[in-house]
Amino acid sequence: MRRPLMAGNWKMYKTAAETAAFFEKFNPQVANATHCDIVICPPFPNLAAAVEATRGTRIGIGGQNLYWAKEGAFTGEVSGPMLVGVGAQWVIIGHSERRQYFGETDETVLKRTVAALEEGLYPIVCVGERLEEREAGQTETVLVRQFRDGIGGLSPEQFARIAIAYEPVWAIGTGKTATPEMAAEAHRSLRAQVEARYGKGAAELARVLYGGSVKPDNIKGLMAQVEIDGVLVGGASLEAASFASIVNF
Ligand code: PGA
Repeated sequence: MRRPLMAGNWKMYKTAAETAAFFEKFNPQVANATHCDIVICPPFPNLAAAVEATRGTRIGIGGQNLYWAKEGAFTGEVSGPMLVGVGAQWVIIGHSERRQYFGETDETVLKRTVAALEEGLYPIVCVGERLEEREAGQTETVLVRQFRDGIGGLSPEQFARIAIAYEPVWAIGTGKTATPEMAAEAHRSLRAQVEARYGKGAAELARVLYGGSVKPDNIKGLMAQVEIDGVLVGGASLEAASFASIVNF
C-alpha cells in the first residue's frame, strides 16, 4: 500500500506573518489526518516561520527548488544544506513554472534531485506535458523523455526516495483539471516506465501524485483512482480550510 502524500505548493504567495496565520488555522484541522503525509512548500524566506509553526505536528515543510552546488557564487540560488539547516525535509524539483520561466531542463532536474537526495531531503519531482504537446498526441512521448533524461538517471536506491508529480501544464492554475481517467492514464504510463527501468517492486512502491487545479470538489474523484497516490496543490493550498478538506478527502 502506498501512503498518500498531500503536498501544497505556495509558489510566490504569503509573507511570514501570513504563513503563521495559515498554520494557526490549518494545524487543528488536520490533527487527525494520520492516513497521509502532509507537506507545505512556502517561499524560501518563510521556511523558518513554517518550520516553527509546525513544530510538534506531522506536517512536513519543503522548499520549491534548490541548486545542486552546496555553496558558491550563485547569486539568488539556495542549496540543499541551507534547506536542511532551516528544518525543511522536502523539496519540489522541476516544476513546470521553473521549466517555463527559469530554463529548467530534464538534465538540471536530475542534478537538483541528486543534490537533494545527498542532503537527505525528499524530492517531489514534477513532470507533465504542455497543451500543444497533448493536442499533438505527444503526452506519452513527453513523459518518456522527461523520465529518461531526468529521474531515470537516478540509482535504484536514490529513486526509492522520490515522489513523482504528474502535472499537465495546461491544468495548472487554469481551473481545467485532467479528468481522473486522464490522470490515471498518464500515471500508468509513468509507472510502466518505472517498472522498465527499476523493476516491478519499485513500480509498486513509487508514489505518483497528480497536480493541476486540484480543489476540494474534485479531490475525491482523483483519489478514487488507484493510480493516484496523492496530490500537489497550488491555489487551493493557500487557504487553510480548503487545503484541510483536500487533506481529509
Ligand atoms: P494549481 O497549481 O493547483 O494552482 O493548478 C498546481 C501546481 O502548480 O503545483
